[in-house]
Amino acid sequence: MGIPRSDRHHIFEWSKAIAGQTDHEHGGAEATRQAVVDMAGYGDALGAERRRCPMDDTVTKMVSADDKGNQLTPEEFQAFFILMTVAGNETTRYSIAGGVEAFAQFPDQWARLQADPTLARTAAEEIVRWVSPTKVFRRTAVVDTEVGGQPIGAGDKIMAHLVSANRDETVFTDPETFDIGRNPNPHLGFGGGGPHFCIGKHLAVLEIELLFEALAKRVGRIEITGPTPRLRSYHFTGIVEMPVRIVAR
Ligand code: HEM
Repeated sequence: MGIPRSDRHHIFEWSKAIAGQTDHEHGGAEATRQAVVDMAGYGDALGAERRRCPMDDTVTKMVSADDKGNQLTPEEFQAFFILMTVAGNETTRYSIAGGVEAFAQFPDQWARLQADPTLARTAAEEIVRWVSPTKVFRRTAVVDTEVGGQPIGAGDKIMAHLVSANRDETVFTDPETFDIGRNPNPHLGFGGGGPHFCIGKHLAVLEIELLFEALAKRVGRIEITGPTPRLRSYHFTGIVEMPVRIVAR
């Protein structure tokens, strides 16, 4: 993004507060509203700075016109700045925490990754399927259609439960098994395709892959040593806290 390293803790706190919209212990609606205002103000200031002094970063691209002269309006820039930072942060850290938890629960899969760290790529996809960091997205049908025998009228609002699709027994063999070698793995963790498919999918998979590849080479055993409370959220599958003991190899 081009956000200075020294400001990252602000972004992290705002992003957490926005994800905690429906969790009164972790912000609630009031903290979310304040975080949106603060983050939009921060984005505006950073955008103005990059307009004055462009740099080789994403914010500069977001405030610049494309080759046809199209440019985001100030409101679109604010919304996109928040979307990018929250979508890129909460999801990957929930995946990583959920992956650590899964490896602690299924030590045979951890031993498999240690024996062959090149499995980290398929493991990253399996972690996203297993965790389903974003549980649900809503869509509005633009034409009359039918899904799974269910008629849907133009204008109907529908909920796409990605978390359920990711355990679909008609699609996955043993969907309740955490299998780091699962391939193919047609999960819908990043959406089901189309124009809104996750823009950060490749970055996210790379982050998760590199982290677990490095851990597998260094960490012998992972143990969860206490309760792992979940974020109360209809949208995110988040672990709020997870005490972990790791034993070096
Ligand atoms: C494991 C990590 C991630 C998961 C599970 C995830 C999941 C998703 C899902 C399900 C969607 C909606 C797809 C749809 O409606 O069809 C989405 C959209 C989006 N994601 Fe991600 N995401 C992840 C990481 C990231 C990262 C790292 C970034 C940014 C660098 C990012 C930026 C976005 C943006 C901007 C959109 C909106 C795209 C649009 O509406 O056109 N995501 N993501």
